[in-house]
Amino acid sequence: MNFSEDLTIALKAARNAADVIRQLSINHRNLDIRYKGRNDIVTEADLEAEKVIINTIREHTDGDSFLAEETEGGNELTDARTWIIDPIDGTTNFAHGFPIYCVSIALYENKEAKTAVILEVNSNEEFYAEKGKGAFLNGEPIKVSPNNNPSASLITTGFPFRNMELLEDYIELLKELLQRVQGMRRPGSAAYDLCCVASGRCEGFYEYGLAPWDVAAGSLIVREAGGKITDWLGGQNWLFGRRLIAGNKGVHDFLLKEIKDHFKKVHLSNG
Ligand code: IPD
Ligand code: CA
Ligand code: CA
Repeated sequence: MNFSEDLTIALKAARNAADVIRQLSINHRNLDIRYKGRNDIVTEADLEAEKVIINTIREHTDGDSFLAEETEGGNELTDARTWIIDPIDGTTNFAHGFPIYCVSIALYENKEAKTAVILEVNSNEEFYAEKGKGAFLNGEPIKVSPNNNPSASLITTGFPFRNMELLEDYIELLKELLQRVQGMRRPGSAAYDLCCVASGRCEGFYEYGLAPWDVAAGSLIVREAGGKITDWLGGQNWLFGRRLIAGNKGVHDFLLKEIKDHFKKVHLSNG
């Protein structure tokens, strides 16, 4: 497969960041932690990793834009080449020494994802994709699970932990799914959830309260692995829309229907 120079740059940036995160994780209990809001933390490692990613990309490119969680936030995308970066997706896990957290890097141009890399720091698994070229894990092609049967499916989600606006409906849906699917998981990193969908480790994923850097890379990896991504209305407003469903087609459609049935507020307000 002929990958672009951008993939090489993204992989290099992710590996450099993972080295920094691993180094700082040795002493994670003594890291400086700052609260951006309730249950919204940032550690020295997030800041250092983001710096390393942006510097690595800048060494190899000229004039590209950035949308990066800790220093270059924003809520819109232009047509320019824009790197969307989450230096550590799963900071709460990282701060506790709980082992799932990822570096997530995506390149968008004309508002479309071109290149995506997600590196899970503990396992050193590298998931990546380029538009039209398929999705890969450590160099091997990956595909979503062929199992379309909800009752034989493993589903991941993100528990609400900052935004409790839809908590009641969320719990009602969880209650129902616990009785209808094979198992539910909450890994703690939306980027990793999407990689699990892409590689067939689970059949579906849904969450609300997501930021663009949580999903920018993982959504391309899922689609290139043959999966389906929508917002909670079945539309394509998932990058800035904060609510996303991913899955193989059958399980995605099952989750969309369940969400429609349980989140009347979302569906009646069309948002
Ligand atoms: C969070 C993780 C988590 C998800 C949250 C995200 P962060 O990202 O992806 O799994 O439930 O919605 O904000 O804060 O660790 O970068
Ligand atoms: Ca994140
Ligand atoms: Ca983060």
